[in-house]
Amino acid sequence: MKLNEDSRRPRTAAATKWFFVFLLLLASVAIATGQTSITHKPFGKTTDGQSVDIYTLRNRSGMEARITNYGGIVVSLTTADRNGKLADVVLGYNDLDTYMRPPFPYFGAIIGRYGNRIAKGRFTLNGVEYKLAINNGENSLHGGIKGFDKQVWTARERKSGNGPALVLTYLSKDGEEGYPGNLRTTVVYTLTNNNELRIDYTASTDKDTVINLTHHSYFNLAGEGNGDILQHNLVLRAESFIPTDAGSIPTGEIRNVAGTPFDFRKANTIGERINNDDEQLKLGNGYDHTWVIDGSMGTLRQAAVVYERTSGREMEVWTTEPGVQFYTGNFLDAAIIGKSGKPYPRRSGFCLETQHYPDSPNHPNFPTTTLRKGATYHSTTIYRFSARK
Ligand code: GLA
Repeated sequence: MKLNEDSRRPRTAAATKWFFVFLLLLASVAIATGQTSITHKPFGKTTDGQSVDIYTLRNRSGMEARITNYGGIVVSLTTADRNGKLADVVLGYNDLDTYMRPPFPYFGAIIGRYGNRIAKGRFTLNGVEYKLAINNGENSLHGGIKGFDKQVWTARERKSGNGPALVLTYLSKDGEEGYPGNLRTTVVYTLTNNNELRIDYTASTDKDTVINLTHHSYFNLAGEGNGDILQHNLVLRAESFIPTDAGSIPTGEIRNVAGTPFDFRKANTIGERINNDDEQLKLGNGYDHTWVIDGSMGTLRQAAVVYERTSGREMEVWTTEPGVQFYTGNFLDAAIIGKSGKPYPRRSGFCLETQHYPDSPNHPNFPTTTLRKGATYHSTTIYRFSARK
């Protein structure tokens, strides 16, 4: 009896030790693989009674994205500064109602079926002229009156080793806003464990059509509502840009940036030359142009790097698209009150909308935006966040 008890003691001690080793292992596995999550809750109802949700994606380092299936809008995106302090770096609203009311700055939305402008809302495809919804002077902007930014998307949550993902799908009917073909679109937002917001777009159609999808977040790396973005440093990997007319329609020229305020091949603050006596800056009310990204389209390559000195936050933009629309929030005004109650004055956010060139269907010298029946459209853009010490 006694002997048995004595021999049991070391066994118990060993078991306790292994139990703690097991706990430790479990904890490290949780740290290595866990802490990522995706949850959702109701965000409200559209005017026609459709229920809309808001999804919260969290990655391993605590970065968080909140995305609604109304317009695929990124409502908030928190990233760390050089001291690890999180701030929300995108402009937006707290509630669905404000997103549904004018003005429509397209805060954080998926833009389609055709991002940017189509002159006079007209183009010809296979000998047929199509007339689109006009919503920007005499032109069609961002897919028309009710573009993809104002549609309710079907949402599915997905967890992957890379981080939580939200899969959004939308079927744009033949003739919607004037476009031909039933277009099935899928947009996957992944908040990766490398602190990236990754966007993968795919689409297919049952009739030849045109397509140019993009994402319209307004960034302020000092935090939304924290003044203008004129002191942010910008690099654009682009040797040329697309000059436009007074209606922001491309003239057809592809112009070298050398010697112009459009040269961001070396870091410059956004504000340094924005008020220069330059015809293109005047026509755009500031920067509101497409830059032609160096390298080959279809290949994921760096398009831009933005750095904000006071916080140390840096954002890189990578894309497979041929161009990027750099827009400096020229039409924002202080009457717009953001989600934390602070106004969003002119130039308090900037957009880097990766895309094909504006009005491509009317410019045969631009890369084509035609999507043929049976073909699949693919496009990827990554916004990668870090902080410099
Ligand atoms: C785009 C356009 C801008 C403006 C904004 C929305 O980026 O290029 O001219 O219309 O959208 O206000």
